[in-house]
Amino acid sequence: PMHIFYGKAALIDFLKSIKTNQSSIGFVPTMGALHQGHLSLMQQSISNNDITVVSIFVNPTQFNNPDDLAKYPRTLEEDVKKIATLNPEIIVFAPTTDDIYEGQTISQSFNFDGLENQMEGKFRPGHFNGVGTIVKRLFEIVEPTNAYFGEKDFQQLQIVKKMVAKNKMNVTIVGCPIFREPNQLAMSSRNALLTPKEKQEASIIFKTLIESKEKFQKYNAKIATDYVQKSFGNNPTFTLEYFQIADEATLLPCLRKNKNKNYRAFIAVFVNNIRLIDTISLN
Ligand code: PAJ
Repeated sequence: PMHIFYGKAALIDFLKSIKTNQSSIGFVPTMGALHQGHLSLMQQSISNNDITVVSIFVNPTQFNNPDDLAKYPRTLEEDVKKIATLNPEIIVFAPTTDDIYEGQTISQSFNFDGLENQMEGKFRPGHFNGVGTIVKRLFEIVEPTNAYFGEKDFQQLQIVKKMVAKNKMNVTIVGCPIFREPNQLAMSSRNALLTPKEKQEASIIFKTLIESKEKFQKYNAKIATDYVQKSFGNNPTFTLEYFQIADEATLLPCLRKNKNKNYRAFIAVFVNNIRLIDTISLN
């Protein structure tokens, strides 16, 4: 039988009852509407830990747009079935907002050494304070040995690593590769909000990233960026919010290539009012 907990007290008691000094706990935080990308994180956790905990919680404090929060897909019953097919021993934590925030649905303020001021941080004010708040709280409840985050949200991955390092938290953050649809669209819970036609056409996002990588390697960041802006400028279906080539460590824009640094391209695009992001390594 699968273990599901809707409150932190019961989860904490249960974990205490099953863990020994040697057991490692793998943790996969999610907002549900699970897809293959989420499941790949869980598989990695299962193979590397004695116990795996998955959280499903649509965290209100990381949504800067109330409409986005309202229409975020919620499919707990199906999510639980998908998790059970992987491994019925997985522990699911699906708390209520009250259980997590205790009537104070607000974020703590964090300093992530500037990582929070780029890209998603610029276009979604307060977003990373919300992410930091919930991830810290979940870590305090689950006390994981290892926690798994997707490179799909590369900025989030770097921010969580920064939070852990700055606060000397006792957890290892593991980054996992991006899982894609057959047409190369990065899997996302928000893809469920696209029409079949939009989903098909959204393959242009990754295609453009590949082309930007070629331009960057052959020329420079400016030429690659101009190329991407021009490609989306001519497209009636997609609106480019940002495209940025940045240093993976600092997330600062690449002005001049430095061969000792790793670079990555980041993109955010709107289809109607659905916001999609993707990223690619340029090295
Ligand atoms: P969510 O968007 O549900 O994503 C949960 C985890 O799955 C994140 O680490 C994300 O990067 C990863 N993920 C999403 N799509 C993926 C894909 N196509 N391939 C690989 N990994 C993918 O990210 C969040 O939730 C929240 O911000 C959270 C960390 C849970 C805090 O609320």
